[in-house]
Amino acid sequence: MWYLASTSKLFAKYFGERMKQLCEFFYDDSSRIAKPAILEQVESLHDACAMMAEHGFVRVLHDQSARDEINELASKFSDVELVVVVGMGGSTLGLQALYQVALADPECVMREKLQFIDTVDTDKFIGQCDQLGKRMERDSASVLFVIISKSGTTVETIANLMMIESMVKNLSHTEQANFVCITGHDSPLWEYAAQHSYSRLPIPTDVGGRYSVLTAVGLFPLAVLGVDIAALHEAARSVAKVENGPVISAAIRYLEYRQSRQIHDLFLFSAYLESFGKWSRQLIAESLGKKHDCSGKEVCSGITPIVSIGTQDLHSMAQLYFAGPRDKFTTFISVEKSYRSANFSDDVWQQSPFERLGGKPYSCIMKSVEYGTKKAYTAEGMPFISFVCEQASMKHVVYLMQWMMMETVLLGTLLEVNPFDQPGVETYKRELRGRLQDV
Ligand code: PA5
Repeated sequence: MWYLASTSKLFAKYFGERMKQLCEFFYDDSSRIAKPAILEQVESLHDACAMMAEHGFVRVLHDQSARDEINELASKFSDVELVVVVGMGGSTLGLQALYQVALADPECVMREKLQFIDTVDTDKFIGQCDQLGKRMERDSASVLFVIISKSGTTVETIANLMMIESMVKNLSHTEQANFVCITGHDSPLWEYAAQHSYSRLPIPTDVGGRYSVLTAVGLFPLAVLGVDIAALHEAARSVAKVENGPVISAAIRYLEYRQSRQIHDLFLFSAYLESFGKWSRQLIAESLGKKHDCSGKEVCSGITPIVSIGTQDLHSMAQLYFAGPRDKFTTFISVEKSYRSANFSDDVWQQSPFERLGGKPYSCIMKSVEYGTKKAYTAEGMPFISFVCEQASMKHVVYLMQWMMMETVLLGTLLEVNPFDQPGVETYKRELRGRLQDV
């Protein structure tokens, strides 16, 4: 449970110390934000924490029957060689993040077995369909299309489904075309799937798109490719063992926001976490960017999420970070162990600072850059928290996702906004539907 522990215990246990977990959480104790202020916010979150287990995205982690349903359907497609996921936003971003991080492992068995269609760019989409068509002419049963949409009405997703169906119909050999729809029980797509005899999996009513990665949305395609989805749920559940972890990070982020840090930079020291960064952008942007607060008052509040990749963005964005407006709060995420390793040769260039690298591991460059960056942030009084993961893996990313989903819900409580709706995007959707009537 992540109930608030006694506050003295909280600080004695966590501040300035490592939280030993899949990913360790650090907070720079010397921050300008005083501990009593953090504690006050932590205490104010007591009720929100007590309710955390009620939220759909937490409850699903304990749902054995949902896992069984996913695994049972996945086993019917065990011969499939390529899973093509069609969806938008929360229906694909989480899975994209998990797939990308899995590729860090050179032995990843999913390599080239998962593909995403999340665009209505004609050149890109038709290009993908052409390739898929050629592959299906050879063996149509080797491809599985997974159509994911909670509402079952997202224009891009349904348009792509219709185009894919036409492409499949026009193939000369289609003994079998595999379709699975993952959608809300009451959605039009649920009915459509039944009419076309497509297999179906439900998305729980109380789990919105950006919180749905650990439902069938993210887990079914992985289960088809042989991933142990129970182990992923276990990794996510382990966040709850860090008493008050997401509560503390939410309180710190909220206080920094109140001190004009309205931009949140997720600074990732791993090339395999870039898609995770995109997933987190959606989570923060859609959950916290609100015109009205819970009482209906117009507030236009929100935290603007940006993502930086180390070390590339140090050569691109860092000038702004160090010299520009002090409007950012940073979460660093780094990885301790890489899968591959190599050493510099002993006869490296004998010029400072390279002469000391002889025989040293190549990975010391990334680690030194990360160290130097955090030191510079501290010296400049630029606030941050950081997570260090043991390795870049799906388990670690799932852990970070669960932490961030909980943290975001708690931030919603502190900002007094509803972190689960997204009324702002309805305006453009209305305009889009109107426009499609006219084309
Ligand atoms: O978080 C959300 O609810 C949204 O971003 C959705 O994921 C996105 O709009 C796609 O919606 P749907 O799953 O209904 O197709």
